[in-house]
Amino acid sequence: MNKQTAMTVKRYHAALVALHWLLALLMVVELGLGSTFLKHTPNDMPEKLLALRNHMAAGNLILILTLIRLAVRLKTAHPPPAYGTRVAWNQLTAAGHYALYLLPVLAAVSGLALAVQTDLPQVVFKGIGHLPADFSGHAARAAHGLLAKLLIVLIAGHALAALYHQFVRKDGLLRRMGFKQG
Ligand code: HEM
Repeated sequence: MNKQTAMTVKRYHAALVALHWLLALLMVVELGLGSTFLKHTPNDMPEKLLALRNHMAAGNLILILTLIRLAVRLKTAHPPPAYGTRVAWNQLTAAGHYALYLLPVLAAVSGLALAVQTDLPQVVFKGIGHLPADFSGHAARAAHGLLAKLLIVLIAGHALAALYHQFVRKDGLLRRMGFKQG
C-alpha cells in the first residue's frame, strides 16, 4: 500500500472530481446524440459526416480522459468504502465503479475498430472516399451498440444511487465528489 492510500481522506482528489464531472457531461452528450441523431441519420445524408466527425472526436477524447482518470484514481488517496462493514455492498459499489472505467474504454475501442474497418478516418476527417451504405453487418457495430446500451444502464443506476444517498439517506455521500473543503 502506498503512503497516499494509507491516509484517510474525506473526498476524492480535485483532479479526479474535475474529470468525473467533465466525463459525465461528455458521456451523456455522446450517448444521447449517438443513440438518437447519429444512429437514425442515414449515411447518404450530408449531415452524417459532421455528426460522425463530432462523435469520433468526442469518443477519442472520452477514451483518453478515462485512461487519465484511471491513472489518477490508482495514484491518489480515496475515501473509505461507503458501507462500512457491509462487505457485499462495498464490493458491489467497487465493481460498479470499475465498470464505469471499463465500459467507456470498450465502447471507444469498438468504435475505433469499426472506424478502421470502414476507413472512417480518411472519409470523415480528410474527405477521401465514401461512407459505406450503412454500418450494419459489422460485429464491431453490434458490439458498439450493445456496450453503449450497457453504459446507459450503468450511468443511470449510478446516478440513481447518488440521488438515493443525497435525498433519501441524506448521508452527504455526494460531497466526496465535490470541490468544497470541510
Ligand atoms: C465512449 C465513447 C463512445 C460512446 C459512449 C459512443 C456511443 C455511441 C452510440 C450510443 C451509438 C449509437 C449505437 C446504437 O444505439 O446502436 C454510436 C454509434 C457509432 N459510433 Fe460511437 N461511441 C463512442 C466512441 C466512438 C468512437 C471512438 C468511434 C470511432 C472512432 C465511434 C464510432 C461510431 C460509429 C461509426 C457509429 C455508428 C453510427 C451509425 O450506425 O450510423 N464511436 N456510438
